[in-house]
Amino acid sequence: MNFAQPKIMLVGAGAVGSSFAFSLLQTYAPAELMIVDVKADFAQGNVWDLEDLQAFSRSTKISVGTYAQAQDADIVVITAGVPRQTGETRLDLINKNRKILQSIIEPIVASGFAGYFVVSSNPVDILTQLTAELSGFDRRRVIGTGTLLDTARFKVALARKIAADPQGINAYVLGEHGDSSFVNFSEITVDGRPFQEVATLTATEKAELEAAVHQKGGKIIQAKGATFYGVARYLGKICQAILENQNLVLPVSAPLTGQYGLDNLYLGTPAILNNTGIAQVLEVPLTAGEQIKMQDSATQLQKILKDI
Ligand code: 2OP
Repeated sequence: MNFAQPKIMLVGAGAVGSSFAFSLLQTYAPAELMIVDVKADFAQGNVWDLEDLQAFSRSTKISVGTYAQAQDADIVVITAGVPRQTGETRLDLINKNRKILQSIIEPIVASGFAGYFVVSSNPVDILTQLTAELSGFDRRRVIGTGTLLDTARFKVALARKIAADPQGINAYVLGEHGDSSFVNFSEITVDGRPFQEVATLTATEKAELEAAVHQKGGKIIQAKGATFYGVARYLGKICQAILENQNLVLPVSAPLTGQYGLDNLYLGTPAILNNTGIAQVLEVPLTAGEQIKMQDSATQLQKILKDI
């Protein structure tokens, strides 16, 4: 699949959606960006605001749209949803955001849209799975931001601790984007060298780093009401990997089909992203302890999926 004139439809012009649009227009600039929001005047305001970028950047056709205009979109990015309130867990959000998701997917599929869904709305693993189920799309074309944000947060925290460049750290946070995610410590490399040759961390230090990742989202929400810059940037990286056929490996919310002994479940794990969407879901080596954490994370989500 090649994308001569890539068109992205953004659903939700709130903090995450508008940050995604702002970041995308400066890093990738598709031929067209169509913004849909239940508050059409708010979407229009974002279009006018974003147009101001175009005096100094490649011009993208930016417009307000409706779900019915998704038929020629290559990617639909779903950021719509009510944000997590202070003290609320991501999973508390499920019933509110599930209804919103249903009202989005049905008209988009009815429009004849046949591209890729990229989801960031929380709880992202559950809502990505529901997007796949509601749309009936091949699951390789339904991707969630997963533990991409958690992985970024971990790399930054570890780099600070060992005085390294976060971009030289190859590491993954796996599992649910939430309190049961965990770090795949056994596979970390720093500038291509096994972590064990670069530094050692006590069990307490490892637990502190994992806790910092778990708490980061809530800490930001407590301080400023929502988080959006990181996830917005990573939505753009996923879109670009698809539209430029990059074969980029990112820890996204991907459909497991036997990896880690799990099936029919979206969970954070590295996947190869290219113009087919998820070309391959990777199963990274886990220690026995890490496997237990992956199973625990899966159990958390399977319990929710059973009840909705
Ligand atoms: C975050 O982790 C709230 O899921 C969002 O920043």
